[in-house]
Formats: sequence, structure tokens, C-alpha cells
Amino acid sequence: MLNKITVVGAGNVGATAAQRLAEKNLARTVVMVDVAEGIPQGKALDQWQSGPIEGYDTRVVGANDYEAAAGSEIFVVTAGIARKPGMSRDDLVKTNAGIVHSVAKEIARVAPKSIIIVVSNPLDVMCYVAMQGSGFPRERVLGMAGVLDTARYRTFLAEAMEVSVEDIQAMVLGGHGDTMVPLISYTTVSGIPVTQLLAKDKLDAIVARTRNGGAEIVAHLKTGSAYYAPSAAAVQMVEAIVLDKKRVLPCAAWLQGEYGLRDMFCGVPCKLGKNGLEGVIEVPLTEQERKDLTASAEAVRSVQATLSL
Ligand code: LAC
Repeated sequence: MLNKITVVGAGNVGATAAQRLAEKNLARTVVMVDVAEGIPQGKALDQWQSGPIEGYDTRVVGANDYEAAAGSEIFVVTAGIARKPGMSRDDLVKTNAGIVHSVAKEIARVAPKSIIIVVSNPLDVMCYVAMQGSGFPRERVLGMAGVLDTARYRTFLAEAMEVSVEDIQAMVLGGHGDTMVPLISYTTVSGIPVTQLLAKDKLDAIVARTRNGGAEIVAHLKTGSAYYAPSAAAVQMVEAIVLDKKRVLPCAAWLQGEYGLRDMFCGVPCKLGKNGLEGVIEVPLTEQERKDLTASAEAVRSVQATLSL
């Protein structure tokens, strides 16, 4: 158990992440920081008082400034505006870059040794902003996207094959956008290649639904975007770090030549342990997957290029 984990942003993703962190007993104190007066305090009190029922001693604390977050070992950054119907994640870039940059500076001020997990969109570019703002090395700035996109992919695959989600191994790489790359060549059901169990047209439809997974939810909700699965995904990454699990999860990482990509964040297989990013795992891809990954990276780079930090 860590001493302190802070969630920045007490909206739907942030508050649900804080709740999940407390319920998993991952830290003695979970801090929620948000600029909205009263919201983090009220939600934190409510969550703290759930402890006797859910069986956790975690103290959940809400604040409008970063003093309460001082010394946190991990930060989950959810701050920023969410999508409305018809918007792409990239439409959020200008507003959220300003927010995430100042959040990252505050984090570096109050917790210079911490690890940052970015959830704000457009995800890959916000990771870059967080790295710039904090000045942290790549080991300590990671983005949550691949775990979420892979969860969606596994959900739809399990439904189509009528098997348990637990038996589906898969990874979705690339940027967190319409160009994300579900790796069909590495998708298995307990080791059996998915292509032996599912017809190509069904697989193609699942890939398309996965790529559109966030937008499908935005179209239903109308006033915001998904938060149950995004918060679960962020907390799975936190758990891998807190428990030093050495889990291999698809995360956005700052690339230095891996997969032919450099000086950008993009979703790749990462090993997560107590030091944060403990390695990027490079595996051979099919020609199509490599092409798709390069195209996805280009889409991220074009958004990154619009920033002036
Ligand atoms: C989604 C948002 C959180 O994919 O990016 O639902």
C-alpha cells in the first residue's frame, strides 16, 4: 500500500478512479484535487464514509489546491474538458493542453519524485504536455488508453465468441483515436489465434466498433464521455505500479526509436512496475499492423505539431 495517491480532476473519471483506488486499498490516503470549489471536498467525504461498508481505511480527501497532494507517489491526471457528441478527442487539444501543462507543473512542485498517469484527452498529446510541464523522465509519465481500448476489444470479442472475457488476450496499440491498432495477429483465446475461431467479417466489425468505442458512449450520454471503464483502466495501471507487478499492458509511452517512432507518445506494450515504465516491449508486427501503427502515430504527431508550449 502506498502512502498517498492523488487524482487530479473530480469529474466522472476522476471521482470514479478515486473510489476504485480506495476500494482496492492501494493507498492510505487518496486525494482528489479539482478547481471547482466544494466538489472534491464533498465527493471525498462521501467516499471516505463508504469505507466502513466497503471495508477500507483509506482516507479520501478533497482539495482545490496542491498542498494536500504534497508527497504523493502517483498522480492520475483526468483534468480537462470531455467530448460532446460530434467532437473528436483532438478538438479538445487547446483547452486541455493549458490545463494539463499547469497541472504537471504543480505536480513537479509538490511531488518531484512521483509517477504521472495521464487520462486527459487527446491522450497521447496530453502525455507530451505533462512530460513538458513536469520535466519528468519517460519512466514517470505514462498514458492510459491502450488498457481501455483493449478492454473494449476484449468485451466485444468475448460476446461474439460466447467465451469469458478473462480468456481473451489482446492488445490495442497506437494513438487513442480512430486510428488505434488492435493487433489481430496477437489476439488469442487462451492461446488459440482468434482468426481460427472468428470469421474475418465479424473480426473487422469488432475492430471498427472498438475504434469507435468512446464515441459510441458519447453519442448515448450526450453531455460527456465514458468513465467507468476509463477509471478502471487507469486504476489497473496504478495497481501494477503499486504492487510492482511487472505487468505487460498497452500504455502510451514516450518513444525513442521503438517501433520506428521517436520523440512522441504512442500506445505500445509496456512493462509496469514500482519505477513506472520499466520497459517497452518490441514485437514483430505484420506488414499491415506496422503500416497502421505508423499512420496512427502520424495522426498523433499532427496534433502534437499544433501545440506551442
Ligand atoms: C474514451 C475516452 C475517455 O475512449 O477517451 O471513452
